[in-house]
Amino acid sequence: MDVVRSRAELHHALAALPRPLGLVPTMGWLHAGHRSLIARARDECGAVAVSIFVNPRQFDDPADLAKYPRGEARDLALCADAGADLVWVPSVDDVYPPGFDTSVTVDRLTLPLEGAARPGHFAGVSTVVAILFAVVRPDRAYFGEKDGQQLRVIDRMARDLGITEVVRCPTVRERDGLALSSRNVHLGADDRAAAPVIHRALLAGRAAWASGERDAAVIRGRVGDVLATEPRADVEYISCADDATLAELERIEGPAMLSLAVRFGATRLIDNIRLG
Ligand code: PAJ
Repeated sequence: MDVVRSRAELHHALAALPRPLGLVPTMGWLHAGHRSLIARARDECGAVAVSIFVNPRQFDDPADLAKYPRGEARDLALCADAGADLVWVPSVDDVYPPGFDTSVTVDRLTLPLEGAARPGHFAGVSTVVAILFAVVRPDRAYFGEKDGQQLRVIDRMARDLGITEVVRCPTVRERDGLALSSRNVHLGADDRAAAPVIHRALLAGRAAWASGERDAAVIRGRVGDVLATEPRADVEYISCADDATLAELERIEGPAMLSLAVRFGATRLIDNIRLG
């Protein structure tokens, strides 16, 4: 496995790789969710590249950026074990060359949910992913359903610009239902024990939908009722939105994304499941 840093080293290493090339963009502190993306790319592509870059432009809160977990040695070991051929670990200047002055934004899809809660976040995400796609030029790129709005925003951008096929990969969870996330490391023991309420709440919403409920407010209410049983959970939003446009629904007539953001102390967790 090659580990490269500058764009020049990257281009040299890429030239030697067979196609199709799969790219797995990450911010490091890798876990079994990232591993599942690398394994999927390994199955479907001639070569697999992983990028590890904690992207300052997508953090709306400097304290969140400062405490984001980092550990290059363990990340590289996971990449090698999962079958990556190439890992790009750029510096901020490698990604954003001096004088950098470009922003890529996706419009309507980024207005609600995480876009509303975290101003500038998605412009940071779509800009860095556009750079990764332009510099690495993968045939396919692999993203997790865990970040449901991010996946839809990047898929939209890639289609609109006619670059790179985006592959959607299912959320990997702990046995108790908590979605794996690099941020889970910040949960204290009590919050970690409480956090599986998120998945139970989403499943309760889905159970109501499966038994025929189509009033989105009722579904959001079921999710809220379950979250309310856990005093440590501080709910930021509960959404039942059109699966494609992410517009908030009154009635559920087609596929929908049920999603939420909940704080446990200083740690903000997001999760979602699909209805239909
Ligand atoms: P990061 O949080 O490191 O996630 C990298 C990829 O792993 C994303 O596509 C994310 O959805 C996926 N992922 C995270 N947890 C997962 C889980 N439990 N199951 C399945 N997939 C999971 O998302 C980012 O980084 C950044 O915003 C990035 C796209 C790299 C741009 O900076």
